[in-house]
Amino acid sequence: MVWPTLSMVVAVYVARLIYHAYFSPLASIPGPFLNKISNLPLNYQLIRGQFHTYSVKLHAEYGEVVRIGYDHISLSSTSDTRMVLATHAFRKGRMYKEIGGNGCEPSMFATTLPEVNKARRRMLGDAFATHTMRAVENLVVDAGASALITAWDSEIAKQGQVARVNYYYAFHRMAVDVIGAVAFGSSFNILKTGNADIIDWLHDTAMVAAIRNLAPWLARKPWAFKKLKESRRKIEQITYDSIITRKKVVSETGLPPRIDVLQKCINAKDPETGQGLTPPQLESELILMLVAGSDTTGSTLTWIVMNLLHNPECYKRVTNEIRSTFPDTSQTIPYANAKTRLPYLSAVIYESMRITSPSATMLTRNICLSFGACHHNPRLWKNPGVFDPERFLGPDSTKRINDVLTFSTGVRVCIGRNLAMLDIFTALANILRRYDFKLPDDAPYGPHRLSPSGIPVEVPGLSYLVTGPVNPKNNCWVSISLA
Ligand code: HEM
Repeated sequence: MVWPTLSMVVAVYVARLIYHAYFSPLASIPGPFLNKISNLPLNYQLIRGQFHTYSVKLHAEYGEVVRIGYDHISLSSTSDTRMVLATHAFRKGRMYKEIGGNGCEPSMFATTLPEVNKARRRMLGDAFATHTMRAVENLVVDAGASALITAWDSEIAKQGQVARVNYYYAFHRMAVDVIGAVAFGSSFNILKTGNADIIDWLHDTAMVAAIRNLAPWLARKPWAFKKLKESRRKIEQITYDSIITRKKVVSETGLPPRIDVLQKCINAKDPETGQGLTPPQLESELILMLVAGSDTTGSTLTWIVMNLLHNPECYKRVTNEIRSTFPDTSQTIPYANAKTRLPYLSAVIYESMRITSPSATMLTRNICLSFGACHHNPRLWKNPGVFDPERFLGPDSTKRINDVLTFSTGVRVCIGRNLAMLDIFTALANILRRYDFKLPDDAPYGPHRLSPSGIPVEVPGLSYLVTGPVNPKNNCWVSISLA
């Protein structure tokens, strides 16, 4: 009885493999044979955090449409990717459901239902609109660029003229503080106090989400990952406290103390139904902002500074531009001025978001999307592996900027991109003007370490929810002194 059953199982399994390899509707799509019959190679790369390198390599070998798994295809054409993301026809995949699962109220990011997403975007779009960003700019600069300058100045005072600082940790702290300032009622003051517990809790929260995606059955067990789930609970508590504190002030004084993202979310009403967010929905959206807005912004800034340190000509040009355009160091450089009067800084930011995108991990819409592969597609980008901000300075710079997909595109484009850009521009313009940056002599990567093609070897990336540099504890040090 055992052998006939076993033979039957093997026969069905082999038949499935043959079907996937030769008869499935995806059979004619090029890709490695193993990928045609299995998702193992893809899952292996996802677990290793190497989707970004894997997809670039596969697309370079097989073209713009690749069979990346037995039931998955991947695209590296920017226009095709845009088409997939333009409407709700291709829904977000199971991965997102799991991220927002486990009894949590699904946020606008996690929901796979177009109607829920549309309603949330209608309600919360105004919280990130340009006019709101103008209203919160002071909060962003105080918790961001200015707090970073205070922290680094005190390092210089402590270490003596030249300070060795880890910019990865600094930028991550700053990004969390900024979200605190605009969406939680006040900065978390991590840069000031050095207490980074909340960042550990956020990483644990993101880890729970990643585990839910890869092994939902395991994540659901009450005994599994208790410490990680406890971190998520602490984040929920902070969020709940922020909402209650703000509501109390409003009920006591009759007026909100300020108009910021938190207040806009509390006040939000769906223009079509007149409904506001329920308390669990509000909590879920604010937690999402903290998770979605901090690691992404911190990693973007990290890659930008790393790319500048690895390309000294670009570093020199960008600091010359900022210092000659805004010589009065007693005045903070505001966002509108940084954005409109520093074209080279803009080009550096977009080129960095292209070559080392923090969102180079896999996005699924039934079809797999790889912004990393789009950004390294040689049909669109000449010498895609070379860091060259000039790409964004020519007459077609607006078109080039549109081809950078870092914030995604279409109906589910990043809702926080205005806030992220405000944070990034003001931080960079002000710190690059104030400090001279130098790679420490013992830096493991830099212009001294060139690839066979003569360009600096990039610090490898690690892609989970966000793509950041591996081992930032070693790879992200810079020596700073007052310029
Ligand atoms: C440089 C920083 C950032 C990058 C690179 C980034 C990137 C992205 C990307 C690629 C998506 C689409 C994800 C997908 O479809 O799977 C996204 C969505 C989203 N982002 Fe951002 N983001 C950044 C900052 C922020 C900030 C600061 C916030 C809010 C405080 C935020 C809130 C969101 C939300 C709510 C969504 C979901 C939108 C939806 O599904 O309708 N992001 N972001």
